[in-house]
Amino acid sequence: MKQHIKPAEGKLGILIPGLGAVATTFIAGVEAVKKGIAKPIGSLTQMGNIRIGKRTENRNPAINEFVPLAQLNDIVFGGWDLYEDNVYESALNAKVLELPLLYSVKDELESIKPMKAVFDQSYVANINGVNIKKAATKYDLAMELIADMEQFKLLNNCSRLVMVWCGSTEKYIEQTAVHKSIQNFEEGLKSNDDQIAPSMIYAYAALKLGVPFANGAPNLTCDIPALIELAKQTNTPICGKDFKTGQTLMKTIVAPGLHARALGVSGWFSTNILGNRDGYVLDNPANFKTKEVSKLSVLDEIFKPELNPDLYGEMYHKVRINYYPPRGDNKESWDNIDIFGWLGYPMQIKINFLCRDSILAAPIVLDLALFMDLAKRAEMCGIQEWLSFYLKSPQTLEGLPPEHDIFKQLIKLQNTLRHMMGEDLITHLGLDYYQELVDSM
Ligand SMILES: NC(=O)c1ccc[n+]([C@@H]2O[C@H](COP(=O)([O-])OP(=O)(O)OC[C@H]3O[C@@H](n4cnc5c(N)ncnc54)[C@H](O)[C@@H]3O)[C@@H](O)[C@H]2O)c1
Repeated sequence: MKQHIKPAEGKLGILIPGLGAVATTFIAGVEAVKKGIAKPIGSLTQMGNIRIGKRTENRNPAINEFVPLAQLNDIVFGGWDLYEDNVYESALNAKVLELPLLYSVKDELESIKPMKAVFDQSYVANINGVNIKKAATKYDLAMELIADMEQFKLLNNCSRLVMVWCGSTEKYIEQTAVHKSIQNFEEGLKSNDDQIAPSMIYAYAALKLGVPFANGAPNLTCDIPALIELAKQTNTPICGKDFKTGQTLMKTIVAPGLHARALGVSGWFSTNILGNRDGYVLDNPANFKTKEVSKLSVLDEIFKPELNPDLYGEMYHKVRINYYPPRGDNKESWDNIDIFGWLGYPMQIKINFLCRDSILAAPIVLDLALFMDLAKRAEMCGIQEWLSFYLKSPQTLEGLPPEHDIFKQLIKLQNTLRHMMGEDLITHLGLDYYQELVDSM
């Protein structure tokens, strides 16, 4: 049965904490697409199709015709940053997009000026700025963010908002008592508990207002019981963590293939160089640790060494990120994969991906924003596991292992859309129509 989904009427405000390389590449890209200057490549919501019904029916509508998504012309952007640069200046600084393209959307980008950020340098040691809110408690800061959102909504005449965290990766922290319940969390906000990170304050503010929140960085942020509870209380979708781009994207494409063919892996060495501000932030060991944990989890979940000790029991997995300014946003990654086959004979695979970090991340921001808005209108609240497809370290309910295999993630995403629209789920069994075809011959 088709789920009830409210129509995407009126304007959708996409609010972004962190107007750096990813956010500005995303915003500039959407504005360029709106003007017909460029195409939204890499975005499933804009370029993808979905099969409906049997393979023999040949029904493959565009995803944005199949489900009621917000249209690009109905989107407005806003955000917060500790730097005062408007989105045009920040995009120039990020050096991802070429000048002619940026120039063609200069007016739109210049009009987006960052609101004052909630920032705490103890969470991101390598940067500091002046565009920062000051208040006596973290609770007051959250209230200021709520006021920002309400004012933005009013000024821009939005009917709905979503928030996507594109801020820097915060230092590594683990769950403590303050994260365990809404009550503890709110007390912690009022007593300035140092285990409450700025990103959590943004997430809290969004969820209080019922605004969907997606986390593009590996920080804990909304992956704590207090905020999961709040999301349920306010009927709000959440998802995270860490956009799946570059090297991890490749890993979750290649590893399921090796696993599918029962090929063994004895080692997987991954290294990267990148020179953007994200790379500079990750040059700090406490911030790198957050990213490392996110990147390392992927292979174990795909290979399941406990089920396949002969194939993956001895696998050594190492991930390095090196800050190297000359490359800017154009990250280069190397993977050396030591595999073995029939009778244990060793082989090697080398992957050298010369990627563009923000070019890969921008369409993910768009898809997450549009799908989170859809989820909200479809009254789906709490963790949106069907969006794991976009994330390196997908958030799941406690005790549930995340799914990292990109192909299974895609099937889950597509089946969720089919389920929302009351269409049959696709199992790829196909025996029913196989028999029909045989009978008709
Ligand atoms: N580009 C990718 O492929 C990719 C992939 C996965 C995750 N990410 C994550 O996405 C995030 C953004 O990446 P980027 O390349 O745009 O980095 P960036 O350094 O260019 O931009 C981050 C911006 O966030 C701002 N910021 C930091 N803390 C803030 C706060 N508390 N409030 C408001 N603004 C804040 C910084 O001033 C900066 O302008 C990073 O956490 C990164 O790890 C990026």
